[in-house]
Amino acid sequence: MDSKENNAVSGMPELVGQSPAFLQMMESIRQVAPTQITVLITGESGTGKEMVARTIHHLSPRNGNALITVNCGAIPEGILESELFGHEKGAFTGATDARKGYFELAHQGTIFLDEIGEMPLATQVKLLRVLESRSFMRVGGSRSIEVDARVLAATNKNLELAVQQGDFRKDLFFRLNAVHIPVPPLRERKEDIRLFVRYFTGDICERNRIPEPAWTEEALDFLVHYHWPGNIRELRNVVERLIVLERGRPVDAELVQKHMPDGETERLPMVIQHTNEQTERELIYRALLDIRVALEDLRRLMVGYHERHLGQSAWVAGSHEIVHEKPVNEQETLLTIQELEKQQMEKALELYKNNRRQAAKALGIGERTLYRKLKEYGLD
Ligand SMILES: Nc1ncnc2c1ncn2[C@@H]1O[C@H](COP(=O)(O)OP(=O)(O)OP(=O)(O)O)[C@@H](O)[C@H]1O
Ligand SMILES: [Mg+2]
Repeated sequence: MDSKENNAVSGMPELVGQSPAFLQMMESIRQVAPTQITVLITGESGTGKEMVARTIHHLSPRNGNALITVNCGAIPEGILESELFGHEKGAFTGATDARKGYFELAHQGTIFLDEIGEMPLATQVKLLRVLESRSFMRVGGSRSIEVDARVLAATNKNLELAVQQGDFRKDLFFRLNAVHIPVPPLRERKEDIRLFVRYFTGDICERNRIPEPAWTEEALDFLVHYHWPGNIRELRNVVERLIVLERGRPVDAELVQKHMPDGETERLPMVIQHTNEQTERELIYRALLDIRVALEDLRRLMVGYHERHLGQSAWVAGSHEIVHEKPVNEQETLLTIQELEKQQMEKALELYKNNRRQAAKALGIGERTLYRKLKEYGLD
């Protein structure tokens, strides 16, 4: 679907894409949107499940009525039922008034149950009943309320597995799964990446009043080949960071790499025309970060050392404790941490033919840290 077509319906989310995977998904959306059928939308985090739900609602005859989104994972278990189905006055302590729930608010519209995989089993039973009878009772009520709400649900969980493990009701799964729309991960629709970059660039520049930067072919290529575990949301974040922090500077591959999620410390904004206090705060922040990175490096080196010299050992992540099976060999000549560090850096540089970026990555440290240390050890 192109943006012109999208704009024809006001308030409609702009779904961008032209890859076969996207077009196939759009086709399913078009087919199911005008019907009343329940749709289950699945996909990894950041793939656009919520946008799909909004598009279905906007392309349905219900688009003049409410679309109520409920994040089932964000509402505490104890109040989810009364949030969904409402409650009568005095239903529980604190229920001083009767209140409509989301289902009633979605009457003649659409209710989007996001993160349905997080719904507690007790609430699942009640939901199934609503889907089957199109009616329910408020918490603490005895009157049956009829509701005409179209149900859309989404999850990034494997619901079939959840069913097998007893965390999700099989009958509810079948009911929700009447139509299943899988949203493809970004790595399976690489043809769309350039389009997204262009679209996000335009949008972000307009919002922030920044002139649109040019992207080199290599920069775009880099983005196309990345695996995007955080999908479209991650791509958008990278583009946004690049544009806002570099403020319209032409974007080449090196600049892109600098702002990729891996380059942790390279992501810090530069200090620019701040008050003394701000500058001081940023300097402290950077120093703290450097310490953190140095500690992390030290930790990695020690793990490496223990693994090489003490046989099978395991580093218990997070607990800051080294567990090893073989006792420390008293006779073993020890290298200082600095010597070890230097050796490892030389090794990595040799291995990666002096490509410092790759060497730093292999060592699990920031490139800036590597530069600093190379200088320190006279290796630069
Ligand atoms: N086809 C698309 N066109 C334009 N933007 C998109 C598209 N799909 C997703 N996005 C953007 O990607 C981001 C993530 O989308 P969304 O919140 O719908 O994902 P999600 O699958 O619901 O993620 P989560 O599982 O984390 O809830 C949003 O910023 C959204 O605007
Ligand atoms: Mg979502």
